[in-house]
Amino acid sequence: MANSPTPTPATIVLAGSTGALGLLIAYHLRQHGATVRALVRLESSHSAEAESLRLQGLEVVEVDYHSVADLTKACQGADCVVSALSGLRPVIVEAQSRLLDAAVAAGVPRFIPSDYSADFTRLPEGSNRNFDFRREFQERIDQAPIQATSILNGMFMDLLAGQAPVVLQGPRRVVYWGSADQPLDFTTMRDTAAYTAAAALDPTTPRYLRIAGEVTTIRDLQRIATEAAGQPFKLFRVGSLGFLKGMITVTKTLMPAKDEVFPPWQGMQYLHNMLSGQAKLPSLDNDRYPNLHWTKVREVLKKAK
Ligand SMILES: NC(=O)c1ccc[n+]([C@@H]2O[C@H](COP(=O)([O-])OP(=O)(O)OC[C@H]3O[C@@H](n4cnc5c(N)ncnc54)[C@H](OP(=O)(O)O)[C@@H]3O)[C@@H](O)[C@H]2O)c1
Repeated sequence: MANSPTPTPATIVLAGSTGALGLLIAYHLRQHGATVRALVRLESSHSAEAESLRLQGLEVVEVDYHSVADLTKACQGADCVVSALSGLRPVIVEAQSRLLDAAVAAGVPRFIPSDYSADFTRLPEGSNRNFDFRREFQERIDQAPIQATSILNGMFMDLLAGQAPVVLQGPRRVVYWGSADQPLDFTTMRDTAAYTAAAALDPTTPRYLRIAGEVTTIRDLQRIATEAAGQPFKLFRVGSLGFLKGMITVTKTLMPAKDEVFPPWQGMQYLHNMLSGQAKLPSLDNDRYPNLHWTKVREVLKKAK
């Protein structure tokens, strides 16, 4: 009897491969044995990140994101394009659209856009600038002859260790607006990357995949922070959600920083979307890939301490 042929490993094109999330997705794709073509900008092709990708056995391809022809060449023969690009409209809408056009032109069947966020699909326009860009790209990809899958993971849990002004280690306070009982979705960047890699290699993914390493309320965070630190944390309610909206307007006026991807007022918009429940993930697809590990808030806060 003839031997059955060894299945060819899937080829994944990875945009934003030199970024924090992109590097982790690259690692997990390699763990699955995928062939990974990592797209890098000319100016980043000799960076430490690009070098690390080469050492991991990825094919590093220099591309000009302004050239659909260049991108089409890079997409030839791929099974899926995964984007982990980060930026404002010129990146999330414009560069990703050129990458989408290239994927379609090259006949790539699937595309995972750089969403990796709370559930922006039901949010009103203008409530979060970065989510507006994602919805604009969503309209384009939903018109394109390609199978799109967005990964929605809530807030990166890693941010609770410092960057997000929620769990304050110094004064031992958990800061919030509105209700302390609103459930909130958190997933570490690493767990999001592992899930994205599994989804990239799964030809049957639906339009959206929603995940959360842990769903907690502010009151839960107070308890978890207290356990992790071994010292009591108190709740600090700054005000209502309406008050937070007012703070966003003032911060935006005083510190517009419009060219920054994550200025303080954008982080505040993110918190408003989560604390209002409008960006809550309605259901979770964690179990789709059973072998994945889900990091808990306690582990992240323990490390922060
Ligand atoms: N849910 C959350 O809480 C949360 C938090 C943070 C980020 N995110 C999302 O996660 C995704 C990845 O973010 P990250 O933190 O990994 O970003 P990052 O570390 O800043 O990496 C961004 C990547 O995009 C590339 N890039 C930036 N501008 C570009 C341009 N004009 N043309 C082509 N490539 C460009 C960078 O390439 P170079 O190396 O060449 O600069 C890099 O590879 C984004 O969608 C981001 O919004 C989610």
